Amino acid sequence: MEKRFWEQLYLALTLLLLNLGSAVTVENPHSCYGAPGLPGMPGMPGRDGRDGLKGAKGEPGIPASPTQLGPKGMKGEPGPPGLPGKAGLPGVPGAMGIPGEAGDAGPPGIPGSYKQKQQSAFSVTRQTSQYPLKNVPVVFNNVITNTNHDYNTTTGRFTCRLPGVYYFVFHSSHTANLCIILHKNQRKIASFCDHKTNTMQVSSGGLLLHVAAADEVWLGVNDYNGMVGIANSDSIFSGFLLFPD
Ligand SMILES: *[C@@H]1O[C@H](CO)[C@@H](O)[C@H](O)[C@H]1NC(C)=O
Repeated sequence: MEKRFWEQLYLALTLLLLNLGSAVTVENPHSCYGAPGLPGMPGMPGRDGRDGLKGAKGEPGIPASPTQLGPKGMKGEPGPPGLPGKAGLPGVPGAMGIPGEAGDAGPPGIPGSYKQKQQSAFSVTRQTSQYPLKNVPVVFNNVITNTNHDYNTTTGRFTCRLPGVYYFVFHSSHTANLCIILHKNQRKIASFCDHKTNTMQVSSGGLLLHVAAADEVWLGVNDYNGMVGIANSDSIFSGFLLFPD
């Protein structure tokens, strides 16, 4: 651009000088006109010309070699799922579930043994020469028979475990007047009194009594308390279940 400008300027100056020379030669040396003035300053550069025509199509490019990589392709479709992986480690056990519903009732059991289940019987003796205290249970302290410890040799009371009809009986040796009173709980059921007429006597008594579970049966004495339990003169209290409820 700049080069073209200077070339044009040079051309313009050359033409101007040629013109000047011809003018000088044409002019009369004796004319009254003075010498021509110096050429004016070059004008401002003109504006750029319009774009030229489009150039000819270039030579075809060199074909790409097979070793050269082409442009990256589009992303492919996802492949099919792989085979299942190996089983993982077992997890921690879960919380315990709620209890299931009760199952059906089982078949009836084999018949039980009456002998083993519905039995209650005791025979206990009092082994002391001392008379018992009055108005409290007489303690028979020696066991001959006592199923399931229904008779308590510490308290002197029979406690019913199997309700039903029981038979209670006593045979008591005594060296003084004696009244024996059979109690069920705090209630007097029967009294057997005998005055002493010999050095040693035996009194006895017995009864059938219905006893409910947890009822207590015991023998007591009052002021007539001459009961003893010595060699050859036992005092014995017995009871047994006759009919269970
Ligand atoms: C007898 O009764 C006493 C006092 O109530 C008690 O401590 C003891 O365990 C009873 N004995 C039996 C064999 O039940």
